[in-house]
Amino acid sequence: VVLVLDFGGQYNELIARRVREAKVYCEVLPYNTPLESIRSIAPKGIIFTGGPSSVYADNAPYCDDGIYRLGIPILGICYGAQLMAKQLGGHVARAQVREYGRTDIHIDNQSVLFHGIESDTVGWMSHTDYIDELPAGFKVIASSFNCPVAAMADEERKLYAVQFHPEVAHTPRGFDMLKNFLYKVCGCNGTWTMTSFIEDTVASIKERVGNGSALCALSGGVDSSVAAMLVHKAIGRRLTCILVDHGLMRQDEVEEVERVFKEQFNVNLVVVDASDRFLSKLKGVTDPERKRKIIGEEFIRVFEEQAKALGHIDYLVQGTIYPDVIESGRGDAAVIKSHHNVGGLPEDIDFKGIIEPLRNLFKDEVRKVGLELGMPEKVVWRQPFPGPGLAIRIIGEVTPEKLAILRHADAILRAEIAKAGLDREIWQYFAVLTGMRSVGVMGDERTYDYTIALRAVTSTDGMTADWARIPYDVLSNISNRIVNEVQNVNRVVYDITSKPPATIEWE
Ligand code: XMP
Repeated sequence: VVLVLDFGGQYNELIARRVREAKVYCEVLPYNTPLESIRSIAPKGIIFTGGPSSVYADNAPYCDDGIYRLGIPILGICYGAQLMAKQLGGHVARAQVREYGRTDIHIDNQSVLFHGIESDTVGWMSHTDYIDELPAGFKVIASSFNCPVAAMADEERKLYAVQFHPEVAHTPRGFDMLKNFLYKVCGCNGTWTMTSFIEDTVASIKERVGNGSALCALSGGVDSSVAAMLVHKAIGRRLTCILVDHGLMRQDEVEEVERVFKEQFNVNLVVVDASDRFLSKLKGVTDPERKRKIIGEEFIRVFEEQAKALGHIDYLVQGTIYPDVIESGRGDAAVIKSHHNVGGLPEDIDFKGIIEPLRNLFKDEVRKVGLELGMPEKVVWRQPFPGPGLAIRIIGEVTPEKLAILRHADAILRAEIAKAGLDREIWQYFAVLTGMRSVGVMGDERTYDYTIALRAVTSTDGMTADWARIPYDVLSNISNRIVNEVQNVNRVVYDITSKPPATIEWE
């Protein structure tokens, strides 16, 4: 394992992903991880990330300086480079101007870090402070016009520091530099792949569960589906999956999950039709947060009842993925919406433990695992779908009639987007049943019917998003089909708001 020590930079996740692309397993830990923990993990190498601070700022993040004496190779990037210089007795100066963007750098390719790279190359810079005095034992291995120490090294102690960002695509040979560090300096052999991940994970689940049993709440989403499939591979039908159908799923969704899990993979899946329960709880409720709370609580209740009916279960399977783990280590942001994830932990059931087979994987890695396990593309590339389902895409009260209208309109939108070949590049696309009615005319008759809003956004993580530039003719097809085919809809509008200030969902 290689450790990525997080100093709060914007590219931290990217560094971790590059390391994994080099087929080396790595984990991201906070900068103040105690030396003892690092020693017990015994990583083959450590990477310090960049960060927004100056090493001179109050509260600047400093790691324990004992880390340099562990004998583990370290690569410091940007802030991490400056911190290394400062902690080892060099000096960091405060520049007047920021150096930003594509920068020509001259490198010493005798240094292991730069083996095989031409001596004039390009680095992506984003910094104000710079290293102006080397710590003892270091030499300059790269420089730029503005930056006398664009990189430095103490090859004997295997300590390296680069002011630029090798992890970004704008540093064209950056990936080679990272690979040099990983393979030649740290001695990693680059054998970590999804195949080896699956083998290791399945073996460790087998060992942990033994003859025991496990339970998984399946939502049909990528994460819970792949998690369930991994555990199924390990313990077969001793894993029970429960899909709580709250009646708020999209068209054909429940059937699709049943087809894949039960028929294709012979998974022990129980589908609970609880739609009446959810709908009666939601009767008359219009406030979005109330809807979310009701659905979240009812979900746990149904799940608990089902779990109890199964008798004793040893483990609970959850589809937590790595960004959730990194995120929760960083403290909470303001609550905009109370998200409910299917699989929220029931409190009343006693489990021996939780199995989170994906807790160290990024989303694209989860998809690779899914494909490698033979899961259909439709499941692996499913767009994110919120736990509370269509209830938060119907403005106002949720009724069976409105659900039917929304499902139908949404199915048309999905079909047309797929037909136009846009389903991979758009992060999420769905229909919203606005509570609004308006006047229209159909076959010489006046109508007074619902307005459907179309929402489609591009995003990389759901945190920020922009509205998708869907070609007009595709929008036109969708609109025509919806007003012609869906009863009680006479108007279609397209939502052209980014997030922020809007959110992706309407509620
Ligand atoms: P918003 O609407 O907050 O959504 O911009 C960001 C992303 O989160 C999804 N979302 C949810 N996912 N449970 C979930 O599992 C929820 O309660 C929930 N609410 C929103 C939303 O679809 C988008 O991908």
